Amino acid sequence: MTEFTGLIGQPHPRIDGRAKVTGHARYPSDEPVPGAAWAFLLTSAIARGRITGFDLDAALAIPGVYDVLTHENVGGEAKPPKMMSGGGGTTTTLESDRVWHDGQIIGIVLAESYEIARDAAYRIRVHYEKEMPAATFDCAGVEVAYREPGEHEDYDIGDAEKASADAEVTIDERYGTPTQHHNAIELFTTTCAWNGDRLTIWEPSQFVYGLRGNVAQQIGVDPDQIRVISRFVGGAFGSKGGATARTAWIAVAARRLGRPVKLVPTRDQGFTIVTYRAETRHHIQLGATREGKLTALRHEGWELTSRPSDYNVSGTETTARMYACPNIKTRVNVVHADRNTPGFMRAPPDTPYMFPLECAMDELAAKLELDPIELRRRNDTMTDPVSGRPFSSRKLMDCFDQAAERFGWSTREHRPGTMRDGDWLVGWGCASAAYPSNIAATSARVTLRPEGKARVALAGHDIGTGAYTAVAITAADRLGLAVDDVTVEMGDTTLPAAPLAAGSSHTASITHAVVKACEALRDRIFEAAVGSNESPLGGRDPAGIRLAGGHLRADDGTCEPLTDAIARLTSGAAEAYAEHIPAELGKDAMGKLYQGQLPISRGGGRKDATAYAFGAQFAEVRIHRLTCEIRVPRMVGAFAAGTIVNPLTAHSQYVGGMIWGLGCALEEETEIDLDAARYVNDNIAEYHIPVNADVRSVEAIMVPEEDSIVNPLGIKGIGEIGIVGMNAAIANAVYHATGRRIRQLPIRIEDLL
Ligand code: MOS
Repeated sequence: MTEFTGLIGQPHPRIDGRAKVTGHARYPSDEPVPGAAWAFLLTSAIARGRITGFDLDAALAIPGVYDVLTHENVGGEAKPPKMMSGGGGTTTTLESDRVWHDGQIIGIVLAESYEIARDAAYRIRVHYEKEMPAATFDCAGVEVAYREPGEHEDYDIGDAEKASADAEVTIDERYGTPTQHHNAIELFTTTCAWNGDRLTIWEPSQFVYGLRGNVAQQIGVDPDQIRVISRFVGGAFGSKGGATARTAWIAVAARRLGRPVKLVPTRDQGFTIVTYRAETRHHIQLGATREGKLTALRHEGWELTSRPSDYNVSGTETTARMYACPNIKTRVNVVHADRNTPGFMRAPPDTPYMFPLECAMDELAAKLELDPIELRRRNDTMTDPVSGRPFSSRKLMDCFDQAAERFGWSTREHRPGTMRDGDWLVGWGCASAAYPSNIAATSARVTLRPEGKARVALAGHDIGTGAYTAVAITAADRLGLAVDDVTVEMGDTTLPAAPLAAGSSHTASITHAVVKACEALRDRIFEAAVGSNESPLGGRDPAGIRLAGGHLRADDGTCEPLTDAIARLTSGAAEAYAEHIPAELGKDAMGKLYQGQLPISRGGGRKDATAYAFGAQFAEVRIHRLTCEIRVPRMVGAFAAGTIVNPLTAHSQYVGGMIWGLGCALEEETEIDLDAARYVNDNIAEYHIPVNADVRSVEAIMVPEEDSIVNPLGIKGIGEIGIVGMNAAIANAVYHATGRRIRQLPIRIEDLL
């Protein structure tokens, strides 16, 4: 894998764009399944306790109601899902009479129409033995536990305690981030159909092989008996990454009924039957010299989770690596409450954990009377302070320089509360962004047809990111074809296994298998050509031939049409299957992937180098002197993330991330009723996200970067870094405008009155 032939790095519109805007893209929720029965979920009205009985007669008496499933009649037929973020091997639904959280699935009504099933569900009376729930931090009954060591480590380098006690300048503050829910437009639907002992599942998913493997173990069948189809996903960003309890129960329902079953949960049920971003708290202690060199960093985090799961994101893996510092200590705690289990949401560890660090850095800069960019420059490093290994590449300060220049930072008045425009207080803030460069094992099959067009097949996922287009660009680049001459099939377990589309790893992962398959085909074609007397390239060295413009071309201009060269191999289609297993992973990685596990190499856990993408975020806020209304007229971000396959869709990822960061800073929060441990704004009218009127100028700068260490194609991943740090940049801008530090998100008018 050497230099690119020209298409990688060129902007290209989405190859699936027309299908999407004309309604031809078949989302799993839209799959028409003839003869399907409808399911409606019965969910718990209490947050903690036991179910002592159901009054089902009124529901079962409605014409068109087929059955009601509860723990009493199907409890033993499915085990809980195992996969991370989906409830983590915990009893969460119909397995027993236990209620772990408000809105838990406790029954499934099956009927001939959606309306009948819903009507019946509303007529069921449930009897509970109710216990007092604990809703969140500081409520009576929550349990704080030191997080068990597992995939993540806590760091203890040097003597952070002594170094902070001895430091010339210190920061010692506490911060918090709220519960957040994704609210993707496509609901958490599931459709299951059995044909004999074969099950087909249509469900919007970021990991069809993972869902297949999980459901197989949950209901005790072989994974090969299950097919999962999810060709398009109507929004996800973590919420459709893990297997959740509902899928297996719909499979059980379809088997019991002897006909397909379709579940469309309501939007408010989507707040409790799947995952969300956990509420977090942080204690940050920084020590520094008068010159602004960090001498101590302590970061302790607390993450809220359910009673039975110890799910956590442990973003100290990133915060400990941000700046040169000889003394580092981190600790992560989980806090068990009577809530549903949280899971991934865009930049799961880094969005909540970088917020406190990047605010604390701003506070330190203010205390030192130093420009916040200059403070970061004085602590920049090419060596990972945790492992002592080099970064594979790190352009943090280039990002700051380019974004600062674009933003006009040099004209900033440094004292807070001094920039004004009429009745508006103006504030400028910045923060660092970072995200690990992860890469998973994957496979792909590439077929060259006699007419010289290619088809790429792999069970990857386009969750709106542009993955279909990235795959087509990569194959076209390698085969010397136009992007339009490549078709791509994804999102189906009948295709070669591909990993979870998450962790900013998907493009890096899948393109490597596509390249390998293309190069295997190319080698066969070249070999046949140079070995043939009929080819104009006969007798040549294959190393001097390349594929371009639908031809095999030698340096001296001799060429042969690709179609002629394919015909030499076969009268039909030439095909190659390839796997890419990142160096960090064992040889058994592909076997595990086919079983639904996720072998992934994490950017912070490599042995050769630490691989991260870096960025710099800038925001201007305007706060009205009298009403304290907060506006964000402009945001500028600059990011260096290695090879960019498609700058057009990459730009959308960055801008979308920055806008989500704006929502994270000022709007998003799932409010909870503390007595009932129940979400109260579980709808998109009251769960606030930015609308067009909130979003003014957003500029994303792509800082060119070549990285030959991170992976052969130099791809670091861009799906998540755009959100990281924007919340802190805005909070720092609010401080700059007003002189007030708000350390709990979201920042609202009432915080500034
Ligand atoms: Mo994600 S939160 O890695 O879809």
